[in-house]
Amino acid sequence: MRRMIAGNWKMNMLSEGALQLAGALRRGADRLGCELLVCPPATVLSAVAHVLLGSACQTGAQDCHAEAAGAHTGDLAAPMLRDAGATHVILGHSERRAQHGETDAMVHAKVEAAVRAGLVPIVCVGETLAEREGGRAESVVAGQLAGSLPHGFAGLVAYEPVWAIGTGRTPTQADIAAMHAAIRHRVGAAIRILYGGSVKPENAAAILALPEVGGALVGGASLDAASFLAIAAACPV
Ligand code: 13P
Repeated sequence: MRRMIAGNWKMNMLSEGALQLAGALRRGADRLGCELLVCPPATVLSAVAHVLLGSACQTGAQDCHAEAAGAHTGDLAAPMLRDAGATHVILGHSERRAQHGETDAMVHAKVEAAVRAGLVPIVCVGETLAEREGGRAESVVAGQLAGSLPHGFAGLVAYEPVWAIGTGRTPTQADIAAMHAAIRHRVGAAIRILYGGSVKPENAAAILALPEVGGALVGGASLDAASFLAIAAACPV
């Protein structure tokens, strides 16, 4: 399966920096052996999608509402994101689960809304440090998958251990491989499973070579074109 390297810009980037970064990715995206995606904040999504139109890098969103329209001040519906140029949407990121109280049921409803709008969902799962240290990492992730993925799910799953996000810490290669195997067992053969959490150019090759790792979801290192492209270049072809 072709690997995907996805960048989650989170709540970063004003127009000028976003356009510069998108331009650099447009120039660097050719000749890579993997699929490339960037998920900028919604304010610059349309502008970034415009710069990347026709390039080898696609544009995604970071969240969507479960309804297609209505009285939801400040929220964004999946058809709006599609209209702005998004092809994918990240859903159930641990920062949304922790900071906005998103439950598996809410993520489930958002996944269905995304699919209805023609967006490919990237559903995030992952355990906290306490859950890992308590020996519950696999059961927590299994529960998140069972609750968040609708029957017949055809998007991507991103395994992002909460304690590895933005910390510079990563699980051991054996732990990443074990969790990806456990996720594979639950989602079937067709789903790409991304790893996320402190992926950098220095560790990308080792992580991307692990069995069942179908790519990476990159936070901090996706804000720099050289770093992001170096991670993409580390994909085995
Ligand atoms: P970092 O790569 O900054 O650890 O963030 C990972 C992440 O949360 C991507 O969604």
